[in-house]
Amino acid sequence: MTQKAAMVVGSGGREHALAWALARSPQVKQVYVVPGNAGTEWPANPKASGLQPRAAAKNVAITTADLPALVALARREEIDLTVVGPEAPLAAGIVDMFQAAGLTVFGPTCESVQLEASKAFAKDFMRQYHIPTGDYAVFDDYRAASNYLDQVEYQVVIKADGLAAGKGVLMCDNVAEAQAALRKVMVERAFGKSGQKVVIEERLNGPEISILAWSDGYTVVPIIPARDHKRVFDNDQGPNTGGMGAYAPAPDISPEFIESVRQTILQPTLDGMAERGCPYMGVLYAGLMITEDGPKVLEFNCRYGDPETQAVLPLLETDLFEISQACVETRLDQIEVKWRPGACATLVMASPGYPDSYPQGLPVSGLDKAATLEETVVFHAGTARTKAGVVTAGGRVLAVSAVGDDLATALNRAYAGVARIDFEGAHFRRDIGLTYR
Ligand code: AMP
Ligand code: GLY
Repeated sequence: MTQKAAMVVGSGGREHALAWALARSPQVKQVYVVPGNAGTEWPANPKASGLQPRAAAKNVAITTADLPALVALARREEIDLTVVGPEAPLAAGIVDMFQAAGLTVFGPTCESVQLEASKAFAKDFMRQYHIPTGDYAVFDDYRAASNYLDQVEYQVVIKADGLAAGKGVLMCDNVAEAQAALRKVMVERAFGKSGQKVVIEERLNGPEISILAWSDGYTVVPIIPARDHKRVFDNDQGPNTGGMGAYAPAPDISPEFIESVRQTILQPTLDGMAERGCPYMGVLYAGLMITEDGPKVLEFNCRYGDPETQAVLPLLETDLFEISQACVETRLDQIEVKWRPGACATLVMASPGYPDSYPQGLPVSGLDKAATLEETVVFHAGTARTKAGVVTAGGRVLAVSAVGDDLATALNRAYAGVARIDFEGAHFRRDIGLTYR
């Protein structure tokens, strides 16, 4: 039974959490992480208890862009299941390529990835299938877009159409700001080719929530709701980042709300993709704003969130390998997904200067001390191993996750973990989950 080999594509905190969860599956013997980081290698531990992984994990030094090498690796190591973390290899068609090679892979095909890779595609799709989202218009001509801004009635957000690592969304308070944002995207090409087309969107107000869900193309199972903290500084100040911390489940999100999101947003999205002949298998991530008129979609992502994944997987009681297999084999309706009661909090420790430029190679200390803490897992993100030990190698360096019977306990434990770890200039937010502490 415990003979399966799993592979995780990517190198961040999300991928560490995915590898960790797969290594807890009773079916899995070995996890490969490609290319992984300093945290994604560990020996098998048959006596694992609590939050410890049991199966071994090891890194393979192949970049996520080298799809033929990934296919060759999956064949050579007889990988039973590959889970893809980041959007770039998904948009490059990794799932299509693995499927064509007869390999089992979890993630949407490149046609379905358009939901994330093209904001114009996503908006037109939502309009066609009556999925609630803000008003919008799409332009590939700068003059026409600029004229539109002069006459549009609502406050706008300007979005570069293509992938822009979460940075291609510009919030505008007035027409002058909107014109400047439009120039930045379409004329100065601040986001390169991603700015060939823009979406000009109605600016919405309200609290945000990410609802992620597993999908086998036809059945959708929502994951417990996680709330990310995108701004770099406390009190939501400073520029947007990939995410500075998260907690799950978000106490203000009721099961009824999630059910309504399933019915009005997630299921219609699956049905629409199936109707178009490209059933959506993988994780569907809906970034929502809860407006006075109900939840509206801000964006779709076609993958697990980072750091949301690090906050939800420690609470997952059902075998992630089994859930992923069920998605691939179109039998998700037969799986009962169970969550541990309580809450999980995740705190990101970032390099000084992130999300702008930052130093690398700073020695990280205290990881051993944090590892002994109760109900705590330290997920690595931007780290590398050198002869001298673990050093920083990215903007987001670590994600410290802790579980507790309630959110306050989980947060206290996670902060205790962060307090034991250090690197020069380490930055973390002190107000993650503050409303609920
Ligand atoms: P996106 O990458 O589309 O999720 O946008 C990133 C962030 O920009 C979201 O998390 C929101 O905070 C904000 N945002 C995006 N679209 C809108 C909108 N239509 N109205 C207000 N805020 C938005
Ligand atoms: N945490 C935001 C994202 O994964 O897109």
